[in-house]
Amino acid sequence: MKNILVTGGAGFIGANFVLYMRRTHPEYNIIVYDKLTYAGNLDNLLDVSDDPQYHFVKGDIADAAAVEAAIKQFDIDTIINFAAETHVDRSIMDPDAFIQTGVYGTYVLLEATRKLGLERYHQISTDEVYGHIPHGQSSVETDKLEPRSPYAASKAGGDLLVNAYFITYGLPVTLTRGSNNIGPYQYPEKAVPLFATNAIDHQPLPLYGDGRQMREYQYVEDHCEAIDLVLHKGVSGEAYNVGTGYEMENIEMVSILLDELKRPHSLIRHVEDRPGHDRRYSLNISKIMDLGWRPRHSAEEAIRKTARWYAQNEWWWRKIKSGEFRQYYEAQYGERLRKSQ
Ligand code: NAD
Ligand code: DAU
Repeated sequence: MKNILVTGGAGFIGANFVLYMRRTHPEYNIIVYDKLTYAGNLDNLLDVSDDPQYHFVKGDIADAAAVEAAIKQFDIDTIINFAAETHVDRSIMDPDAFIQTGVYGTYVLLEATRKLGLERYHQISTDEVYGHIPHGQSSVETDKLEPRSPYAASKAGGDLLVNAYFITYGLPVTLTRGSNNIGPYQYPEKAVPLFATNAIDHQPLPLYGDGRQMREYQYVEDHCEAIDLVLHKGVSGEAYNVGTGYEMENIEMVSILLDELKRPHSLIRHVEDRPGHDRRYSLNISKIMDLGWRPRHSAEEAIRKTARWYAQNEWWWRKIKSGEFRQYYEAQYGERLRKSQ
């Protein structure tokens, strides 16, 4: 592994991963390949913008010619695919781009890996592919995939293609399924950065339904370490869950966040729930722990640290929230918030 193509590397987790890899593996060249959708942001990569071992290519993973050209130009031996449309609520409003990138785009990258004989393809996936998990159970990697939102289905489609390329062509592939990541540079449509930035501005926090849905909030750097470990020690053809072991109801997450930011709980507004909302995800993480990985942050530490980052980095999110985001916010929350009063 020497020249790594990080697709979707201008997004939240991808950018954190690039920064992490440049710190921990200075011997690797990192080439970010990203379409720069609304969620892609070169501000996330400012810390490496002058680094001679980092390069940026603007491109779509569904564009086979552009993908091959980038692989050849930079003599790529490894692809790590973070590129996806990632917001469940947007997938409910308009699923098209989710399928195009998550399914067709993944196919294009796998074909390029096969055709050009790359050393490794790694797919970044999600706990959402397992669907809602009843209390008392947790998902292991061999469980059936039962996605329930268009987003989750597009990710499951990608996972199935990765597995098919391993079985059919013996492609050297690995896959990680992460839980809810939080931390620096997360687009403020996702619950934690949305709530943190609304709270900073004394705006209401739109909590879906009863707020008792459960998530494993994970600090993004812990996820990056896990991906790094799987890249170096993972077995080809295998998937690895990357959760935390800390489950939390959304209402508790909001409460910690408000306390950290010193804002009143009266900012919470229970609004109409997300259609098909998965109540709970829960990952069994024994397999990756056997490789030697442990989460370094509890959910509470991750939430507090993230809240502080948004309080200290208004330069990053204020310009996002003042742009196209306003129309999105009105479409997603306007009616819901008015009804909740
Ligand atoms: P994000 O929305 O912040 O970033 C996605 C990035 O992909 C953006 O930079 C965007 O421009 C790029 N992109 C989108 N379509 C593209 C295309 N067709 N071609 C090239 N680039 C494209 O997402 P994120 O939260 O950083 O998630 C990254 C990956 O991790 C995704 O695959 C997601 O499914 C997975 N994941 C996310 C979480 C989470 O909690 N955020 C948890 C588990 C897994
Ligand atoms: O579980 C991993 C997944 O986590 C990733 O695969 C997705 O890309 C990522 O977006 C995230 O999905 P969620 O739907 O769980 O994340 P989100 O931040 O949108 O919501 C977290 C929880 O908070 C969820 O139960 C829905 C709820 N929520 C969300 C929003 C945006 C609210 O109550 N109000 C909101 O306004």
